[in-house]
Amino acid sequence: MEKIVINGGAPLRGEVEISGFKNAALPIIYACVLVRDKCIIENVPNVLDINRSFEILRGMGATIKTIDRTTVEIDCTNVVSGTSDYSLVRRLRGSYYLLGAEFGRFGKARVAYPGGCDFGVRPIDQHIKGFKALGGEVITDGGYIEISTKIGRAKGTNIFFDMVTVGATLNVMLAAVLGEGTTIIENAAREPHIVDCANFLNSCGAKISGAGSDIIKIRGVSELHGCRYAIIPDMIEAGSFMVAAAATRGDVTVTNVIPKHLESITAKLEEVGVSVEEFDDSIRVSVDGPLRPTNVKTLPYPGFPTDMHPQMCAFLTTVQGVSFINESIYDNRFKYVQELKRMNAAVKVEGRMVTIEGGVTLSAAPLVAVDLRGGIAVIIAALTCSGQSEVTDIHLIERGYDDLVGKLKQLGADIKKVYVPDPVALKKAN
Ligand code: EPZ
Repeated sequence: MEKIVINGGAPLRGEVEISGFKNAALPIIYACVLVRDKCIIENVPNVLDINRSFEILRGMGATIKTIDRTTVEIDCTNVVSGTSDYSLVRRLRGSYYLLGAEFGRFGKARVAYPGGCDFGVRPIDQHIKGFKALGGEVITDGGYIEISTKIGRAKGTNIFFDMVTVGATLNVMLAAVLGEGTTIIENAAREPHIVDCANFLNSCGAKISGAGSDIIKIRGVSELHGCRYAIIPDMIEAGSFMVAAAATRGDVTVTNVIPKHLESITAKLEEVGVSVEEFDDSIRVSVDGPLRPTNVKTLPYPGFPTDMHPQMCAFLTTVQGVSFINESIYDNRFKYVQELKRMNAAVKVEGRMVTIEGGVTLSAAPLVAVDLRGGIAVIIAALTCSGQSEVTDIHLIERGYDDLVGKLKQLGADIKKVYVPDPVALKKAN
């Protein structure tokens, strides 16, 4: 086990290169199951969720070769449907893209019911609605979800989602791309990673149009061929560093980004009084004037991302005045608040509204990463206050941040990873 030790209080300064987007890489990696050929994927982040996905696909018969630190060659020619490892799949929500990919390629699927960060109920009813609309017979039995079809492939249809859902939009896209006829998805999610997955599939010969809008058209093709494709930069990692720069009153340039993907974060930081300069593929964040409280409402893209909510809360605890965050996507993404309270943060949660009384001086404390974004939030908070903080359960942060400690060190943070002997193993040894 390891923990992160931080001596905070210094502003972050310098440049940091942003890695590939975990939430774009996941659907694209599972989409390779649809391709009986070699695909070269570039700008892949080196994070736990991705490495676990490689382990799942290798276990199904895929050949995955590392070309360099961020480039892999994936060949799913010999993948066998229904053979994914139950214990690996259930721990990784993103593995539910296997459902759409297996359904799309084989006309059938058998995958463990998905797990993932615990934000309360995380249903997959819209995924199932989409699979059924495509002619799939879906049963959940013994911890598995099974899909079968009479014609051996998906049958094109029109699907209108009850709510905007990233996962279901992507899963239906994967299921329909080799289907018979045309599929229209209405009320589709518009996130950049949906566009990225559609662009990858089109590079393999798919016929998808409208990705990025709320209506996506997929004309089924008979097969896909290999391609070389680069994953888009991680807008949430970039946003996390932008907010950390503002929280520590620093001056940081994030490079290898697409500024358009960050517009809602940039706009909100400027509203608070943070200086944000946009360049072609980089953004500079600095604080050179007074900051003021603000109100945030999380929304599907292009609104303010829910995955930036905990980080924004940590930042707003340092801004004099009362700010609010209204979490409209998840019913329980608030466990991180308890950790901020250990640092004297004046934050309370009522329903889905977080009220932040900013300007209270935080104090260093022993902290826990409650989930992926709750973990980065407590690290940002620890960076803002003098004294030594420790953060445990950092594997949850390493699910989605590539070399976080190295990147923060590069920006001048006094931060290190420390090995923690397993108390149970120690007891046994003595
Ligand atoms: C993806 O989750 C991301 N995960 C999440 O990022 C992100 O918060 C979320 O999209 C929203 O942007 C991955 O990409 C692996 P949804 P996903 O389907 O696909 C409800 C992170 O920190 N819903 O858009 O599960 C659902 O309960 C993670 O990187 C249904 O009701 O998100 C939620 O309230 C956390 N029925 C809302 O929609 C369904 O069938 C958004 O879910 C599907 C979803």
